[in-house]
Amino acid sequence: MLSLPALSRRFLALLPALLLLASSVVLAQPAAPTDTRNLLPVPTSVRWGTTTLKPKTTLRPLFQGNPDSITSAAVTRTLNRLGLNAPVKNQSANTLPLQISYGKIGRPELFDEERYSLRVTPSGVTIDAPTSLGVLRALATLEQLPQVVGRNVVLPEVDIQDQPRFAWRGLLIDAARHFMPVSVIKRNLDAMAATKLNVLHWHLSDDQGFRVESKTLPRLHQVSGQYYTHAQVREVLRYAAARGIRVLPEFDVPGHTIAWQSAYPQLASGDTLYKTVYQSWRLANVAMDPTKETTYELLDTLFGEMTALFPDPYFHIGGDENDGRQWRGNPRIMAFAKAKKMLKSDGKTLDKHALQTYFNRRVLTMLTKYNKQMVGWDEILGPGLPKNAVIQSWRGKKGLYDAAKAGNRAILSNGYYLDLYLSASNAYGTDPLPVDNPLSVTQQRLIMGGEATMWSEFADSVIIDSRIWPRAAAVAERLWSAREVTSTPDMYRRLAVVSRQLEGLGLQHRSAPEQLLRQLAGPTDVVPLRTLTQVLEPVKEYKRHFQGFTYTPSTPLNRLVDAAPAESDVARNFNCRVDSLMEAMSTAQARGSVFAMSASRRNAVTMRQQLQTWQANHSLLIPLLASSPTLTEYAPLSAALSAAAALGLERLALLEKQQQPDAEWQAEAIKQLDALNKPAGQTELVLLPAIRRLVELK
Ligand code: ACM
Repeated sequence: MLSLPALSRRFLALLPALLLLASSVVLAQPAAPTDTRNLLPVPTSVRWGTTTLKPKTTLRPLFQGNPDSITSAAVTRTLNRLGLNAPVKNQSANTLPLQISYGKIGRPELFDEERYSLRVTPSGVTIDAPTSLGVLRALATLEQLPQVVGRNVVLPEVDIQDQPRFAWRGLLIDAARHFMPVSVIKRNLDAMAATKLNVLHWHLSDDQGFRVESKTLPRLHQVSGQYYTHAQVREVLRYAAARGIRVLPEFDVPGHTIAWQSAYPQLASGDTLYKTVYQSWRLANVAMDPTKETTYELLDTLFGEMTALFPDPYFHIGGDENDGRQWRGNPRIMAFAKAKKMLKSDGKTLDKHALQTYFNRRVLTMLTKYNKQMVGWDEILGPGLPKNAVIQSWRGKKGLYDAAKAGNRAILSNGYYLDLYLSASNAYGTDPLPVDNPLSVTQQRLIMGGEATMWSEFADSVIIDSRIWPRAAAVAERLWSAREVTSTPDMYRRLAVVSRQLEGLGLQHRSAPEQLLRQLAGPTDVVPLRTLTQVLEPVKEYKRHFQGFTYTPSTPLNRLVDAAPAESDVARNFNCRVDSLMEAMSTAQARGSVFAMSASRRNAVTMRQQLQTWQANHSLLIPLLASSPTLTEYAPLSAALSAAAALGLERLALLEKQQQPDAEWQAEAIKQLDALNKPAGQTELVLLPAIRRLVELK
């Protein structure tokens, strides 16, 4: 049996913020829609013109001065993607200039400016920026401009001035829990560039693996099996740099280090000898021994090597989730702590924080020697932490604000945890610096931005895109666009467009789950299985660990739950239809007229068709559910969908007849719907609340 407290710590730490968030999302509902056509993130200023470039126009780049190789390659890439590249010979009358000027080569690691202006007029396209980074961001915007007019795709006339709100806009990819091949990282870098994210936070070591070849301590990668060679790391660094993206490596210490200990047991604080990397997802609470000089010698050797391999001036040392139990249990470590006055006021209990700060300071000295600035999770914050450490806040906003108040720079990840399967609107409603933040103007300047995090216990290299995208794009917009850009419906509208754009770039967030469904359906028609899966989501937060199925690093992620969307568009859209219906009813009431279904005819027709499809789906799926051992566990959800849809249809029929539902019928229907609300196979039927709202309509 898994120990619940051990597994749920990350979740428990996040819980208060989640509750807070739920209310702030509601408050964040906008007064006015954003609508800046399909641009995501929304630029600082956009003025749409009235014309478009002529269909079939091609563009020829004209640089002011000689372009650097990264910029000229990026321009070619964009023109190729847009199909606007002018043939070198036979320049036709339809070829217009794409004029590009920038002041200097921009270095993302120095936070050089990303500001740009982009103008499309009938005489051509102009990009102007202080640095080449601005050109890259302008090109990302240009790629989102094309509009379909009739049978043509054209560039609209527009004048855009744009700059980011925050300088640090990251995505964490955990390549330690499940290894992510270079191709996965590269396509995610393409998606990051498309949405103007600029930091890849590469989580490279954890209990379950150490994922970079080490030439100085080779057992680290040898015990882990799958790892990146130095050549592969450099390939990723080049690919990221070509897109104006920094790469921040994370080597998590002193906790989360079973992989290290299985390679070099002398690092251990406890007496367990790990013969292999960790084969479990349980929080292990192991930590390196912070009292031995040999620990620091080993770290110095490794960090010397890794700081040379990764050029970014920042280096992430983790620092999270060490509860100190191994330190408390080791008499030698306790004696050390006593000698160094690291005991609490009772003179007996270890002040874990003091000992970890001692460890952090030793590590920070090393990193300073290698010209790196230290980044760590919010646990490292505390008295004695030097001011140049950057804090990444994951347990709540408090860590973010405490860091800034203490004079440390900070970035936010709480609220942006993609692996909790929360909605894009949830992340979108999380602002690192809302109007009512508690910081002074000087302290606010220490908030550098934020990062979406993709921890990979439940994401392998096949399905990871579907767990990141498109939701990470909502975080990208929150970190780039102005604070006032808060229209959730409009964000969702543009997110759908970006999602298609990302497919074109090679992201597999839609194709991989579909492929999985086809495998599960085998020779049978995939449609009924897809119909069911589209209205399911994996259970939220970290509940997947606690529903009678034990996941380990070797559990294949190829069940229906893995094909279920992190956020169901179909369920969300159906919920919006119920909203429209309710609005129409209350308008009718306000006017003192009888609600006439005819006013919402199209909406009602679509709803009825959907409900009929769902109602009929179960009988179509029964043969497959019964014959496939991996699908049988989902039969209750399929039956529930059918039963819930039947109730929705009954209510819709009454509405059409302008009949009030019988109170008894309504109470019984709600009781039935509540009874249907049971997860199966770590998956829940997320359509139920919307159907319940429909049934409840008075
Ligand atoms: C974390 O989620 N433990 C940083």
